[in-house]
Amino acid sequence: MTDNEPLLPKSPTESVALSQATVISPFLPQAAAGSFLLQPMPDNQGIAPQPFHNPFLPVKTFKPPFLGQTIPVEGKFYSIGGPIGDGGFGNVYACTDEWGNALAAKILVPKGQTYEQVRDSWTRELRNLLVLRHPNITYVHDAFEWQDTFYLVIERCSMTLDRIITMPTLLPEWWLPHVARDVLQGLHYIHAQGYVHKDIHPGNVFVAQSFDRMVPEKEPVWSFKIGDLGISRLEGEINAFNTVLAQWMMPPEALDPGQFGLIGKKTDIYHVGLLLLALLLKQMPTFSQEQVLQGVPRQLAERHPSKFGPIIAKALRRHVWDRTGTAIDFWRELRTVM
Ligand SMILES: Nc1ncnc2c1ncn2[C@@H]1O[C@H](COP(=O)(O)OP(=O)(O)O)[C@@H](O)[C@H]1O
Ligand SMILES: [Mg+2]
Repeated sequence: MTDNEPLLPKSPTESVALSQATVISPFLPQAAAGSFLLQPMPDNQGIAPQPFHNPFLPVKTFKPPFLGQTIPVEGKFYSIGGPIGDGGFGNVYACTDEWGNALAAKILVPKGQTYEQVRDSWTRELRNLLVLRHPNITYVHDAFEWQDTFYLVIERCSMTLDRIITMPTLLPEWWLPHVARDVLQGLHYIHAQGYVHKDIHPGNVFVAQSFDRMVPEKEPVWSFKIGDLGISRLEGEINAFNTVLAQWMMPPEALDPGQFGLIGKKTDIYHVGLLLLALLLKQMPTFSQEQVLQGVPRQLAERHPSKFGPIIAKALRRHVWDRTGTAIDFWRELRTVM
């Protein structure tokens, strides 16, 4: 059996009779979400508020799926395959629907968080994914709660960009415009909706390959899609001192907002700059906080012999007001040297 073939339940009616996954509206006010007092997820490294649990209510136990399991959701069936990824909040499994679509089931399980905190992150990612629909953003097919576990069913991609960056055969100059065009197009859309992604890096850019089912021997069509919108925020909601950013990709404004400006859309521009620099270098560079504050990432891009170097360097300027203005400006500048 290939990866794309659906694993149908032996007896669909039997599975339905057992139970049905709960489909939760991400737009429900949190108070309506269940019998728990919901605790807001702290946005940074601060101490998480202790969850309140009513002793008269049952404790929720997460039950991750297993290979070959069939999950019934509103008259549809999803078949779970093997694990394909592991992230900050949970695991990702290959999954198929009855149409034979190759999907990924992203399961949010607590790693030190409570049921309510995980539910909050899941609801936030779902809300972002439902609002932000674009060909260069991974497409969410479904979202539900099943056996006290939160599921997002997303189009399955072949790999993440970090796998490609380090390929020995990679020709950076050839790849760069293709990756940049797709990532910047997705980012332009996110920004146009008033959102900031805040977590763009090669591990969150997905490579989608679409195959022609009627002529399977045809080469697949490649595209790049921004995924993992879990910490995206409306720009107006961002507080520079209260925000989640991975340590290793801290932009100058996260380290010293007084000098360099505020976290916002330009932070995503900086991260695309780092991503494209990684493509040129064929590895993800890491910088110390001192190096970031000294502008070493920009200097590295400037010194690179590639014709794209100076354009990437502008996206890596330390002061947000000196940086490339928008995602489409970034693309226009890249086009001038192509
Ligand atoms: N749609 C998908 N298709 C294929 N693999 C995926 C998909 N979504 C996630 N993965 C895999 O799971 C990993 C973690 O997923 P991600 O959405 O980035 O979650 P996290 O918030 O935990 O970082 C990815 O690096 C990738 O390997
Ligand atoms: Mg991720």
